[in-house]
Amino acid sequence: MISEIVCTLQEIPENGSIRRTVGGRDLAIFRKGGQVYAIDAICPHRRGPLDGTELEDDFIVVCPWHGWRFDVRTGKSPSHPGQVLCYQAEVVDGQVRVTVTP
Ligand code: FES
Repeated sequence: MISEIVCTLQEIPENGSIRRTVGGRDLAIFRKGGQVYAIDAICPHRRGPLDGTELEDDFIVVCPWHGWRFDVRTGKSPSHPGQVLCYQAEVVDGQVRVTVTP
């Protein structure tokens, strides 16, 4: 298990995300209403980037390449068969900590 402070909460735009690498995995870390959510940053369709876009419908990230949608709370897609992995993410004293289990 790898657990790292990856940024401050302020570094992530509200309803947006940043990309960080933890344990060799590229993660998209989203901020919504004081909470943070970490998912794989690579779309399972054709490896498009899931970071850098705004959340839609509260918790949905839309891949900019072909429009697959993923819920950042579960990693499941409400519209396609694909799924991304989710990782534990939390805010402690304004710092964002993400835990990755190999
Ligand atoms: S690469 Fe993400 S929808 Fe195609």
